[in-house]
Amino acid sequence: MTTITISPHRPLGKLDRRIYGGFIEHLGRCIYGGIYDEGSGLSDERGFREDVLKLLKELRIAVLRWPGGNFVSNYHWQDGIGPKELRPARLDLAWGGVESNRFGTDEFIDYCRELGAEPYICLNMGSGSLEEALSWVEYCNSGRGTYWADLRRKNGHVEPYGVPWWGLGNELYGPWQVGALSAEEYVAKATRWARAIRMVDPEAKLVSCGELGWTDWDRKVIDGLAGLVDFHSVHLYTGSEDYWDDVLAPHAAERAISTATALLRRAAYTQGLARAPRLVYDEWNVWFRQMTDGLEERYVFQDALAVGVYLNIFVRNCAWVSMANMAQMVNAIAPIVTSPATAVAQPIYYPFLLHANGHLSTAVDAFVDGPTVEAPQERLSRWEHRVGDLGPFSLVDAAATMDKNRSQLAVTLVNRSENEERTELILQRGSFEGPAKVTSVTGTGRASRIEAVEEARSSEGEVMPTGSRLKMDLPPRSFTFMATGTKG
Ligand code: AHR
Ligand code: AHR
Repeated sequence: MTTITISPHRPLGKLDRRIYGGFIEHLGRCIYGGIYDEGSGLSDERGFREDVLKLLKELRIAVLRWPGGNFVSNYHWQDGIGPKELRPARLDLAWGGVESNRFGTDEFIDYCRELGAEPYICLNMGSGSLEEALSWVEYCNSGRGTYWADLRRKNGHVEPYGVPWWGLGNELYGPWQVGALSAEEYVAKATRWARAIRMVDPEAKLVSCGELGWTDWDRKVIDGLAGLVDFHSVHLYTGSEDYWDDVLAPHAAERAISTATALLRRAAYTQGLARAPRLVYDEWNVWFRQMTDGLEERYVFQDALAVGVYLNIFVRNCAWVSMANMAQMVNAIAPIVTSPATAVAQPIYYPFLLHANGHLSTAVDAFVDGPTVEAPQERLSRWEHRVGDLGPFSLVDAAATMDKNRSQLAVTLVNRSENEERTELILQRGSFEGPAKVTSVTGTGRASRIEAVEEARSSEGEVMPTGSRLKMDLPPRSFTFMATGTKG
């Protein structure tokens, strides 16, 4: 039996819907054959796959990061504008492919508009020059009568795009990155870039390139750039064949958030900044099976539980996590998989769907008291992150939000137990109003539609509360969303 005490009067922070963000990279079939499929009968006149768009729209993606990832560190954006037949094909040094450049900045912005998502462009700080970066910002955001802004107009886009988010490079700490740097080199270079970008667009929101959140790279970059950027980014991938390792490893994000937050607070205090930069989790997901061949990971339902835990962690830490971008959206380590004939949702689609459509404006404290589990101490997956020292973890992981009048409550629950778990929600102040709507998703163990995509089963029901108490049974290994009214 698990008891979850929800405290409407203990807000944890305002939830920024940008935690329901996505990421698309020129990698395998993410763009070409994924979101963009020229000549397919399933695509619209712009080449956007309509079946993919429909599935993505349901996820209510708030912000979309592009064009990489590792790809961006040798991407030259000017190759991807103007008449398509004149665009050059280039070597993609990150993933070994050939980039046709038929999907570029204008297509990306059009796609974001169609989705209702804000664009977030990551700059090439590998092989790219500062001059190229400045011209990219000018092309997108300038309303003045200058060369690059005029070129955008000539390409059919009179109004500036107003791209709010700009990333100062991707994973530049890693030897797999074209143009990798030491932390000191990165800080010096990013300082010059940040100042110059703000001269083109003073409103640009800049994101420094962090690592995992707890590394020396993070410490040096935060100390060096806290006064110049709005956000510090971190990445995390987890995943394992071992069930417990798979569903507990996302708690490594809690180490990242608490460590990076301490570093950010410290930098803000010692440097006398009015406000510390916030965190952006601009790549996160379960990923461990398919490291090559377009990263076409086929997910099973235990991965969906891990994704539910990641999202719960972002909600609980929304005072500091301002954006998160699931890596990635289509085909490459993605909730959506396409074939020439169809697009289907993988199990990890469902926790994202229920989270993004259900959570409300303010996160509130949800204290979980119930059976716990220890994480494996040894490293079981390809990733180095261990979470053994962070446990024990409750079998049920929960996050709660309310609207600003405290008259509605939304709760997401991940039951990691192999048994059904009797769970009681207790409202610390006030009472539940009317029946609660409950949606639970579980795996079926069956893989039919597109090869090896496990199917998920969703069941919807209602539960009647009694005053401030609400009992429900969480199915074994399930993700559950609950919404109800509250009063008092
Ligand atoms: O998302 C796949 C890759 O993972 C990205 O290109 C890179 O940034 C990270 O290493
Ligand atoms: O690309 C490999 C890894 O992915 C990087 O080390 C890390 O930043 C991310 O988790």
